[in-house]
Amino acid sequence: MTGNQTPQTSPKASLKQHCRQEAETAKLASALAASLEKLFSQNPQAHPNISLEGDLGAGKTIFARYLIQSMGHEGRVKSPTYTLCEPYPIQKNNLSFTAHHFDLYRMRDPLEWQEAGFAEHFDVPGFCLIEWPEKAEGTLPAFDIQIQLKAGADENERFITLNALSEQGNIVINSIHVN
Ligand SMILES: Nc1ncnc2c1ncn2[C@@H]1O[C@H](COP(=O)(O)OP(=O)(O)OP(=O)(O)O)[C@@H](O)[C@H]1O
Ligand SMILES: [Mg+2]
Repeated sequence: MTGNQTPQTSPKASLKQHCRQEAETAKLASALAASLEKLFSQNPQAHPNISLEGDLGAGKTIFARYLIQSMGHEGRVKSPTYTLCEPYPIQKNNLSFTAHHFDLYRMRDPLEWQEAGFAEHFDVPGFCLIEWPEKAEGTLPAFDIQIQLKAGADENERFITLNALSEQGNIVINSIHVN
């Protein structure tokens, strides 16, 4: 029988973590890194886009730093506040890809990221991590994962939520194992 069949979409995965100290944030970032590596090993062409959302000082840069370093990057991961974007070439388990870490807070115009030639960063093998995506006012490519960071009552406490926004995001979030 044929009829009005709506396409089946799986429910969007979500992972919430209460990180009582920075080390727990590091563990979550590292678990996400492992899941992203798994995605790239299965599909070297994958290109997840990840937003990092939260107030000033919420921990977006720290999360990006732990994520990139746990993929094997040994140098510094500095805040891209002034450069808008920093690239990190990663080589791991015979895989080669680039993490692009953006901080759009200082953009004066929502399209400044395009004028700076950053659109091509969304096409190379790897992934993009973007702080302050709201500054681009909806002009960025679609996100696969949204990471929300919120401060808790204690200064070292954070509530971190990872939401899948696409099927690719679902795959990544469903294969995260936090110890
Ligand atoms: N559990 C925690 N998780 C993450 N960061 C923490 C935690 N506890 C304390 N911190 C501290 O919070 C600060 C977070 O700063 P960070 O630069 O990452 O914020 P940000 O969200 O990137 O801010 P901005 O919007 O200014 O870029 C760091 O100094 C970090 O050491
Ligand atoms: Mg930051």
